[in-house]
Amino acid sequence: MRYRRLGRTGFQVSEIGFGAWGIGGSFWIGAQDAESLAALHAAIDAGVNFIDTALVYGDGHSETLVGQVVRARSERIYVASKVPPLNGHWPALPDDRVPDAFPPSHIIKSTEKSLRSLKLDCLDLQQLHVWRDEWLRDESWLQALLKLKADGKIRAIGVSINDHEPESALKLVRSELIDAVQVIYNIFDQSPAQALFPACRQHDVGVLARCPFDEGGLTGTITPETTFPVSDWRNDYFKGDRKAQVAEHVASLMGLLGPEAHTLPELALRFCLAHSAVSTVLPGMRTQAHVRANVAVSDGRRLSDTLLASLECHAWQRNFYD
Ligand SMILES: NC(=O)c1ccc[n+]([C@@H]2O[C@H](COP(=O)([O-])OP(=O)(O)OC[C@H]3O[C@@H](n4cnc5c(N)ncnc54)[C@H](OP(=O)(O)O)[C@@H]3O)[C@@H](O)[C@H]2O)c1
Repeated sequence: MRYRRLGRTGFQVSEIGFGAWGIGGSFWIGAQDAESLAALHAAIDAGVNFIDTALVYGDGHSETLVGQVVRARSERIYVASKVPPLNGHWPALPDDRVPDAFPPSHIIKSTEKSLRSLKLDCLDLQQLHVWRDEWLRDESWLQALLKLKADGKIRAIGVSINDHEPESALKLVRSELIDAVQVIYNIFDQSPAQALFPACRQHDVGVLARCPFDEGGLTGTITPETTFPVSDWRNDYFKGDRKAQVAEHVASLMGLLGPEAHTLPELALRFCLAHSAVSTVLPGMRTQAHVRANVAVSDGRRLSDTLLASLECHAWQRNFYD
C-alpha cells in the first residue's frame, strides 16, 4: 500500500481508503456484518489506514462496525465521518440556509452521536455531508466545527460536495477554511479535474475521491438484466434504461483493458489514482475479495499518458434528476 498526504492535515493516508456506506446495511441492502468486519480487517491487514463513514449509513451502524474494528487494531487508522443536513436535503437546495441544514447545535449533537456509535474520543475528519458555497456568508457552521476541534472531538474539517457539482465548493476551497473535500471522481465523471483539483492543489486541500466505480457501473457487473434487492437505492440510481446505457459505455471501455489494467475495476481505480490532487480513493467494498482486488492496485504503477488521454473520451454527462 502506498500513502499520500491529505492536504494541510499532514495525515499520511492510504491511496485506497475504505468506503463504508455499503456496510451500513441501509440503502445498500444485503451486507452481512460478519463479512463486513472481515472486509475491514482485511483492508487494514493490507495497509488501508483511512475509513470514510457517516452518521446516516445505517443510522450509526456503519460507524459501530468501523469503531469495533478500529478499537481492536493497534495500527493508526484515520476515521472520517459526516454530519447529515438537518433538513434531510441531498443535494442541498439553492434556497437552503445554514440554519436549515447545519445549525451549530446540530453539528455538535451529530458529532457526539457519531463518537458514541464509534466508541472513539475523536474523529480524524468531520465533514458536512452536503455543501453550498453561499454558506460562506454565515460561518456559524465553521464556529461549531472549530469548537469541536478545540474540545478535542475532531482533528480536521471537510465537506462532501454535492453529486456531480464539483464547482459548487470552489469558493470554499479557495477560502482555506477547511482541510479536505470529498467529491465524485471516476471515468464517467471527470469534471473535478477541470477547476476543483487545481484549486485543491493550490490551496493544499486534501481530496477524497468517492464512487470510483460509479456505484457499480464501472465494475462491469451491471447489465440490462441486473436486479437489486427491494428498497436498495440502486433501483433508483440505475432506473429506466440506465442499466442498458451503462452496459453500452462499459462495452466501449473494454478495448482499453490490457497490460496497464487487466480488469475494469482496476482501470477505474488506476484512473482515479493517476491524478496527483487525489489523496485517497474510496471504493465501497463489503467483501474480502473486493478488498483484495482493490488494494492490489496501489502498487505505484501509473497509467500512461496515452491511456489517460483515451479515457478522457469516456466521460459521460448524464441527467440524474429526470
Ligand atoms: N455524499 C457522500 O458523501 C457520499 C456518497 C456516496 C458515497 N460516498 C462514500 O464513497 C464510498 C464509495 O462509494 P460507493 O460505495 O457509493 O460506490 P462505488 O465505490 O462507486 O461502488 C461500490 C460498488 O462496487 C462494488 N465493488 C467494489 N470493489 C469491487 C471490485 N473489485 N470488483 C467488482 N465490484 C466491486 C461494490 O460491491 P460490494 O459492496 O459488494 O463490495 C459496490 O457494489 C462510499 O462507501 C462512501 O464512503 C459518500
